[in-house]
Amino acid sequence: MDHRDLASCTRLKPVYDYHEATKHRFDAFADGPGFLDWATQPDPFRRYAGARLIRLEGVAPTGGPRYDAIFTGASMPAAAPVNHQTVSQLLYDSLALSAWKRLGETRWALRVNASSGNLHPTEGYLVCGPVDGLCERPMVCHYAAKEHGLEVRSEFEAALWSSLCAGFPAGTFFLGLTSIHWREAWKYGQRAYRYCMLDAGHALGALVFAAAGLGWQVRLLDEPATDELAMLLGTLQPHEAEPEEPDMLLACVPMQQAGDLQGPSAAALQAFASLAWQGSPNTLSPSHLDWGIETLASLLRKPRAAIAYERFSSPPQSGVLPMRPAALRRLIRQRRSAVAMDGQTSLPRDDFYRMLARTLAVPGAVPFAALPWKSQLQLALLVHRVNDLPRGLYLLLRDPAQKAALQQALTQADPWRKPPGCPESLPLYCLIETDARAAARQISCQQDIASDGCFSVAMLAAFSGPLERYGPWFYPRLYWEAGMIGQLLYLEAEAAGIRGTGIGCFFDDPMHEVLGIGDHAFQDLYHFTMGGPVEDTRLSTLPAYG
Ligand SMILES: Cc1cc2nc3c(=O)[nH]c(=O)nc-3n(C[C@H](O)[C@H](O)[C@H](O)COP(=O)(O)O)c2cc1C
Repeated sequence: MDHRDLASCTRLKPVYDYHEATKHRFDAFADGPGFLDWATQPDPFRRYAGARLIRLEGVAPTGGPRYDAIFTGASMPAAAPVNHQTVSQLLYDSLALSAWKRLGETRWALRVNASSGNLHPTEGYLVCGPVDGLCERPMVCHYAAKEHGLEVRSEFEAALWSSLCAGFPAGTFFLGLTSIHWREAWKYGQRAYRYCMLDAGHALGALVFAAAGLGWQVRLLDEPATDELAMLLGTLQPHEAEPEEPDMLLACVPMQQAGDLQGPSAAALQAFASLAWQGSPNTLSPSHLDWGIETLASLLRKPRAAIAYERFSSPPQSGVLPMRPAALRRLIRQRRSAVAMDGQTSLPRDDFYRMLARTLAVPGAVPFAALPWKSQLQLALLVHRVNDLPRGLYLLLRDPAQKAALQQALTQADPWRKPPGCPESLPLYCLIETDARAAARQISCQQDIASDGCFSVAMLAAFSGPLERYGPWFYPRLYWEAGMIGQLLYLEAEAAGIRGTGIGCFFDDPMHEVLGIGDHAFQDLYHFTMGGPVEDTRLSTLPAYG
């Protein structure tokens, strides 16, 4: 179906209108400010003035668990008890600062979770019962990344906590993510909503990996309505500052005990609307431009519903690979984006296959078991420098059930062939043998990082199908899944001794043309590149805290 027909279906019109309007085209970028207005640059740190701050520990990384161990159930660490130290570690390894960079008199903070333009629209929340060494009463807290602390926004009765976590395993607590769209819109204008949702996916991925290091599992609870999340997280209150839009509610549970989880009851969530909330949010910019994103976000809010998502039809098998010594927590905290690639480093073919196997959603396994829906994104790969693998365009089928639809959609492809040495269980196909470096650079807004690495990735979402099936609120979820893949690829790059970079700036339809996609069955949502990094030696690096 043509997008004009789909747009005429009023329910999906805002999504299609937004998605089309925010495509970068060769002859025009999506609407944006066109320059950086430094006078209105948003403060990257939200604080709630007047809310009590609980300091958390900067728990230094140790040797265990190994990074490779968290993907195989058998070598998972035992679930750690929930206390001040372990909650500190969870946030230290996910949403905290990881370094400061300095150039002359200017310095800026970098975090564990990647963010488009380092603008960090995502805010984190903790909702918990009494926790050893942290709190005696149940509370809702905002995470203050610069201080590595929890701002107590509200304390509440034990009875409300009991009704909130009824049906969840012992030791459960909740995490919430919200977005301050203005932080990205300041720089990127209308396309910023996409970046916010990708960033939310990166933050979700970061929480999943940090939790795995403690033997915990993070699960997205997709039954509650967005409005109920606003009540729970205290972002419903009207205030003068930039709005925070709730994105997702997560349960953090001991690894072995996470069966099927629905959300807390509507009654429990709605009770939070009448709590007393402490602290008022800081204003991030003295003035703002309206790019229509708050209106869009309000149209994409999810209503309360238990969704009968399609689950994995055929769980992919990843072969047994030798376990490397790298420690999970060291990789997490050293993760960085490459600002340039060397145009030389070549990746061993087995490392490439291992990375791709990690992007498959294996039921019950880190990281994609966090999502209640089956994989909606397939990976188109532009391979430039992988040993013993011809340059060209490849496709990884993360959902094998999409094979026939993709064979029909990708009209530019030659007959699909398994590449040499590819494990039988890895659904990877070579579509065209070609030198795609120039195309990769051009399509990624002329960024050399896309051509000078080992390979770059275009994440192709099943688009019109899931939107029609579930509704407009599924649009941000497609980006969350893409962001999670991005956060995984960052860690995979670190584990292989190379580096990755997310690429939000790409020309949408030109990439579709390369693949032969002519309709909205599949849409390209995010790019990523991996390669040998070139360090910017003008910058000095300072510790994250202290
Ligand atoms: C969604 C997303 C889109 C991004 N797009 C680009 C891009 O187009 N070009 C680029 O050089 N870096 C891009 N980046 C990398 C960010 O600039 C980088 O994450 C940020 O500066 C923080 O640095 P760090 O990743 O080292 O913490 C992107 C990152 C994300 C998460």
